[in-house]
Amino acid sequence: MCGIVGYIGTSKAVPVIFDLLKRLEYRGYDSAGIATIGSSIQTFKTEGSVDDLVSITPDLAGCIGIGHTRWATHGVPSSENAHPHCDNAGNVAVVHNGIIENYIELKDELIGSGHEFVSETDTEVLPHLISEYYNGGLESSVRNALSKVQGSYALAVISTDDPDKIVVARKDSPLVLGLGDSEFFVASDASGILKYTKNVIFMNNGEIGVISREGVEITTMDGARVENKVETLEWTAEAAEKSGYDHFMQKEIFEQPISIRETFSGRISSEGVNLEVPVPNARRIVIIACGTSYHAGLFGRYAIEHFARIPVEVEIASEFRYTDPILDCGDLVIAITQSGETADTLAAIREAGSKDSHKLGITNVLGSSITRECQCILTRAGPEIGVAATKSFTSQLAVLLLSAVRLGRLRGALSAADENDFIYELKQMSANIRRVLNCAPSIRECALLFADAEQFLFMGRGANYPIALEGALKLKEISYIPAEGFPAGELKHGPLALIYDGVPVIAIATEGMVYDKMLGNIKEVKARGAIVIGIASESDTRIAKYVDYVLRIPDTDPWIAPVLASVVLQLFAYYIAYHKRCEIDKPRNLAKSVTVE
Ligand code: AGP
Repeated sequence: MCGIVGYIGTSKAVPVIFDLLKRLEYRGYDSAGIATIGSSIQTFKTEGSVDDLVSITPDLAGCIGIGHTRWATHGVPSSENAHPHCDNAGNVAVVHNGIIENYIELKDELIGSGHEFVSETDTEVLPHLISEYYNGGLESSVRNALSKVQGSYALAVISTDDPDKIVVARKDSPLVLGLGDSEFFVASDASGILKYTKNVIFMNNGEIGVISREGVEITTMDGARVENKVETLEWTAEAAEKSGYDHFMQKEIFEQPISIRETFSGRISSEGVNLEVPVPNARRIVIIACGTSYHAGLFGRYAIEHFARIPVEVEIASEFRYTDPILDCGDLVIAITQSGETADTLAAIREAGSKDSHKLGITNVLGSSITRECQCILTRAGPEIGVAATKSFTSQLAVLLLSAVRLGRLRGALSAADENDFIYELKQMSANIRRVLNCAPSIRECALLFADAEQFLFMGRGANYPIALEGALKLKEISYIPAEGFPAGELKHGPLALIYDGVPVIAIATEGMVYDKMLGNIKEVKARGAIVIGIASESDTRIAKYVDYVLRIPDTDPWIAPVLASVVLQLFAYYIAYHKRCEIDKPRNLAKSVTVE
């Protein structure tokens, strides 16, 4: 939610800031703004995209600046509400990602002291507080201001009173500093600065940084010096580019043979699965996540219960954190989050910690907030820029399969021979995904037959049920067509009422997942006029008699087929959204990282 950036160096700041903002635009895209220091602070802001901002910003000479791309929380998208926000004298400019919870009280106090506000945002209190508490130095003034603030923030501040510094601070919103050659970068996440440097510092909660052309100094809120922990990013700059594809989502779908290979690299061999999964003797596992990651969690539940025979519960993070969950030291709580920054998931894992449960994170982003909360398994899918999760989802499924097998072995629920047979199939997964991708033209052809459908239904059983949910989410997220996923066995308990003549139903009917019952469910919807698109294995000779269209996946283990089926559904959604000319990488109202509640 919102991307903040900053630059200080020897080059002109404006082009760098525009480039950084474009790379972070997937975090929010309803308005954007920039501020640099010349003889004074010069600020340009607009409703709309970073391209709109570029078109209104003149060539500015300053070599220091900050920028923002917004996902509105407090106040409608407008140029007044766009960041940077300034104090009344125009000496201080601030960009902020997060929420200042006590802004109304602070605003009232500041208005009482003569400050005038021009926006509806919570953020605007920050520059006013900084100028109100200004004590001769920008860093100490920011520190004073933040001592009054409740809420979450990643912020970057520049001031004409200290014109060769950017002051940054972080609490519960991500912030990365990039270290170049006499130039330094600030960004909400590392994919933004990959093009410029791979040497980064991931700031921790409660830290304030001062960035000058000489370097970076980080201190705690109490002023204690913090040793700079410089990390080297493994992602390549090309991984965060579109590289000739029309959309990041398309590129990311087609990258899955590689991302899956990376996920498995060094983790599967003839010796078995090599993955550090804590507390194999846990009495229970509770998986918490949101959105697509929640669907991965549902799949994980089926896999872990099957392979390791441990009871698993799956909870939506935003519900879990407020239900006073019953947890104890016998539980292992697994938080799944691609970004590692989802506010509800982070709060839920903290809740688990407060109840003495064991914690494990599954994330795609090294250095993200979840990696600071608990031991994490990295999914290694590479940077995912499209708002709709694709390759990160299949890598989550792959990690969950590995975890299930590892736990199964450690608990004696799975034999070495069965583990080996399964590993053989896992090793084919990347090649099998490539074979699915080779069928993209026929998936497209089928999808376009239904591009004007008013609604879709997706159904599956067992581990295909979460894949049906995910297929529906993908379609509605990027094409805005209402779509619902449900467990096929539930049909007669309500969803059957949604079936009418010609409604498209996607039935994930891979073998092993209660296949015969699934055929029965297909008959039920067909009998009521649905047009059924079945997703089935290559060697399945029965399915064609039951459905109107079949999209095939390679023959594989029943636990791997759902991963292949997800790729089919990603392509299906993508081609419909493409046909409808939707903003595929930046669906309306959504942002990649949901860093606010
Ligand atoms: C997926 O396509 C969505 N963009 C969304 O549901 C996402 O999965 C959810 O916000 C959770 O994000 P996370 O994995 O980064 O925690």
